[in-house]
Amino acid sequence: MTFRFLTSGESHGPELNIIVEGIPANLNILDEDINIDLKRRQGGYGRGGRMKIETDRVFFTGGIRHGRSFGGAPIAMKLINKDHQKWLNVMSAAPVDETNSQIKKELDEKYISKVRPGHADFAGTLKYDAPDVRDILERSSARETTSRVAVGAVCKKLLAEFGIEIFSHVLQIGHKKVDSKTKWWLTEDGQALDPKSKEYLEKKEQIENSELRIYDESGLIDEEFKTYVDETRKQGDTLGGLIEVFAIGIPIGLGSHVQWDRRLDGIIAQAMMSTHTVKSVEIGAGEASYTLPGSKVHDQIYVDKDSKGALNYKRKTNLLGGTEGGMSNGMPITCRVGVKPIPTLISKLDSIDLDTKEAAKSHFERSDICVVPAAGVVLEAMIAIALTGPFLEKFGGDSIEETKRNFNAYQEYIATK
Ligand SMILES: Cc1cc2nc3c(=O)[nH]c(=O)nc-3n(C[C@H](O)[C@H](O)[C@H](O)COP(=O)(O)O)c2cc1C
Repeated sequence: MTFRFLTSGESHGPELNIIVEGIPANLNILDEDINIDLKRRQGGYGRGGRMKIETDRVFFTGGIRHGRSFGGAPIAMKLINKDHQKWLNVMSAAPVDETNSQIKKELDEKYISKVRPGHADFAGTLKYDAPDVRDILERSSARETTSRVAVGAVCKKLLAEFGIEIFSHVLQIGHKKVDSKTKWWLTEDGQALDPKSKEYLEKKEQIENSELRIYDESGLIDEEFKTYVDETRKQGDTLGGLIEVFAIGIPIGLGSHVQWDRRLDGIIAQAMMSTHTVKSVEIGAGEASYTLPGSKVHDQIYVDKDSKGALNYKRKTNLLGGTEGGMSNGMPITCRVGVKPIPTLISKLDSIDLDTKEAAKSHFERSDICVVPAAGVVLEAMIAIALTGPFLEKFGGDSIEETKRNFNAYQEYIATK
């Protein structure tokens, strides 16, 4: 069965719903595995009031029994929007009594005709012939990334069974770059640290403890960046940034060169770009790869006679970020993703009122200032999702035991090559 998923639900609706199909049976999974990432998505310096209202927790409503996926059943999950209690009339599925003055007042307060530049408001309202912008805002909101994180957590759990590690860290907020040690997860010869090693785990923990999700041994960069976010907040403005997302332990041969839509780099780029507020995706050295000569870009190959298995094929560098010809080549997949400053600004932008056709300031609804750290967590989920399809296409299996048999046989074959 092809791996696929669908999400539904609105920002202020009662709940978010998710159905994931194609995960092999007998994958051990607990709600805590999902809740950890949901919590990580809610963190980060520069978030707004919503994060204080919601503490996201997943409820499995199908496909998980006694802590494992079973019998090929789709995994169904729901997340309750606590905030919905204040929106019962505005988001009611049933028609409401608009002759009731209290209800009418609530509806009027939440009615929006002033579109926010940078959001789905303008195109969505016209495209869907929406009576007001809320019809669009509710579903286009990044609240939907919560569902993606839940799916991504299932995928991470699956990939971890095969030794695949996925993580992210922030490289830049606005114009401020983290200059030092951005390659903290690599050894001096450019190979990835063992994700189970003490060194890797300690560095990872440092990033998890950083509110900006940056690698900073001194703790000083964190403080400097926070001040910058605070100053931006005071000016009523918002900030974007650059995130690196990587995946270590990828087997050779995920994806394929044979059709455009099977190329792994294309699948990853689409997943990243589909994420709210993402504006650029680079794989490997990305931008640098078209400014350097070919001899400096292509990762030269050698055989390391001392190491065993597929890993005895080594690269001197990883500038191509782990894909060649649309397939994984066994090196870490590295992806740098640029996110724009979020579009809801306290100092409102010039816009229009779709009802009056007059100039108007854009609508403001409670909002974050800087979502770069949180976006990193969403992008981890998206790379996990992007890898899961090609992974299951390659190794298949209706149960995790069968997938492991297929995976191990392939790794043994590669080791003989
Ligand atoms: C985790 C996360 C949280 C976000 N929170 C907000 C927010 O509070 N306010 C806002 O205006 N945009 C926020 N955004 C960005 C918007 O959702 C996004 O810019 C908008 O939906 C338009 O989509 P586009 O940027 O992909 O074109 C957030 C994005 C992410 C990834």
